[in-house]
Parts: sequence; C-alpha cells; structure tokens
Amino acid sequence: MTQDRLILLNLKNYSQSVGDAGLELARTVDQVADETGANLVIAVPTPDIHRISSEVRLPIFAQHVDPIIPGASTGFILPEAVQKAGAVGTLINHAEHQLKVSTINATIKRVQELSMRTVVCANNPRTSLALAMLGPDAVAVEPPELIGGDISVSTAKPEIITDTVEAIREHSPGVQVLCGAGVKNGADVKKAVELGSDGVLLASGVVKHEDPRAVLLDLISGL
Ligand code: G3P
Repeated sequence: MTQDRLILLNLKNYSQSVGDAGLELARTVDQVADETGANLVIAVPTPDIHRISSEVRLPIFAQHVDPIIPGASTGFILPEAVQKAGAVGTLINHAEHQLKVSTINATIKRVQELSMRTVVCANNPRTSLALAMLGPDAVAVEPPELIGGDISVSTAKPEIITDTVEAIREHSPGVQVLCGAGVKNGADVKKAVELGSDGVLLASGVVKHEDPRAVLLDLISGL
C-alpha cells in the first residue's frame, strides 16, 4: 500500500453499487481522485472487476479471494483471475465474509505471491494485532456493531483505533492501520487520522448517499 493516507471504498453489493450503477459510481470516484489527487481505492463486486477496471484509472480491489491455485476447482475465486481482470489487491476477512485464521494466512500468502495488495479486516485491537502478524499490507479494524450505522468508530469507540494503532506500530510496524464502520464525513476521517490511522474503509456513507461526489470531497478534506 502507498504510504499516503487512503480512503478505501467498499462498494459491497448494494443495488446502488453493482452493475451499471457500480460503474457509474466508480467513474465518480475516479473523477474525484483525478481532481484532488487523493489516494482513493475501491473494492468492487467480483463480476464487475473487469468492466470497472477497464473504465477507470483507480486502483481496484476484490472484496474476497480464495487461497487456491489454478486448476480443478469450482465456484471459488482464483487470485490470478481477479488480477487478470484488473484487481491490484483484495480485502480479506471482511466482517461480512469472515474466515478461519488458517484461511486468512493462506490467502495473504497466495495474494502476495502475485504481488497484489492485502487489506485484512478485524473486529477489535486484539484480532487486529494477531492478523497483522500474518504480514498483510494493512489491517482495517471495524467493530461489526457499528457497520452500516450513523455513528463512526472514531466517535463511538476511539479507543478501538488508538489501541489497534499502538499495538501494530509496536509489533508489526510495517503494517498500515485503517479503520472503518459508520464513517460518514470529513470530521470522521479527520478524527480517525488524528487517532493514528492511515486511512479509512467505508461503504454506505458514499454508496447510499444521494450525492457521492459531494461526500467524497468532504471525506477527503479530513485526510
Ligand atoms: O467495508 C467497510 C464497511 O464494513 C463499513 O461499512 O457502511 O459502515 O461504511 P459502513
């Protein structure tokens, strides 16, 4: 991951973020990134990776991949396949797609064999530290109970961020720390950065907003 502070937008699978709607949203994010020079990354639904990566210059992440190699497997997501489709990285272990630690470890290794980037999601400071020890590029700490809500982690549970940052800075200093859940505006981003995070991971604050461009510009103001 570049050392610039970043905003990683997870499109998830909302009706506003898949298919044509997802492409339109990606174009908006791309335009804002061009205008502002901000470090914006989007994690898109697997079926849309190729189409979106063909249309925008933004770094594109997968939302999940499986730790498999090319060969006889069915219905799993091959890291090489999403790379060929245009992804440069992936989320791993999102709260909405949780994995066993052994699977997380195997996935990080497989993805890093392809020189792709890994952002592993965790639900609290202890799991953040444990997963940081597996050597991803970044850990994104997100209290599940705040995901999709109106109060951001930096307001509701700032200690989650500071405890995660302190632990990872001490034990895995090469791993970036993102935070997420309920992030909605520039003030949330500013507070998250002040608490020590390298950026934010968010979804509904942009995807479900009536004016994604406006809220993106506000979020960037907090970096
Ligand atoms: O992947 C980020 C997501 O879990 C946070 O969701 O809607 O609270 O920004 P949201």
